[in-house]
Amino acid sequence: MPVETQEADARTPYQLPFPKDAQEEIVIPKAIPEDERIWVPQAENIAFRPLCLNRSQGYWMNLLRVRKSGVLSRHRHPQAVHGYVIKGRWHYLEHDWMAEEGGYVFEAPGETHTLVVPEDVDEMITLFQVNGVMLYVDPWGKTQGFEDVFTKIDMCRAHYEKVGLGADFVDQFIR
Ligand SMILES: [Fe+2]
Repeated sequence: MPVETQEADARTPYQLPFPKDAQEEIVIPKAIPEDERIWVPQAENIAFRPLCLNRSQGYWMNLLRVRKSGVLSRHRHPQAVHGYVIKGRWHYLEHDWMAEEGGYVFEAPGETHTLVVPEDVDEMITLFQVNGVMLYVDPWGKTQGFEDVFTKIDMCRAHYEKVGLGADFVDQFIR
């Protein structure tokens, strides 16, 4: 048990200011937004919803939404990915397991995969934490493009400007 030096009990809130250099928390009441404009189109039938674009540590948290027949192009992850399936289901062409609604996946560094949604699923939504970079590759690993937290921020800025939310709408998600 911690030793209390002043009058306090378990429900006494922390009494001191947070570190002066600490960043602000991000609180998003509706992670799955009601406003369709918040979804940022990424490819045909694929959109993402930014939650935390962490430029200081080089990762991003987002909801990925894939609608019927969408395919997220083959890519390599040099760093780990964590995923939680909120809705629908999907699989990778490179694995024989299915990510089902309510399921969690850890994707280890070195993974290269292609995400597809089965024909009978109208929509899937998955929370992903993606670290570092995604390298888009051909079937033999030759790099064809990349995404990182900075390309994500750029995509958000361009989209939010275009749909009338304003380029700076993305700022609330950047840390
Ligand atoms: Fe991936």
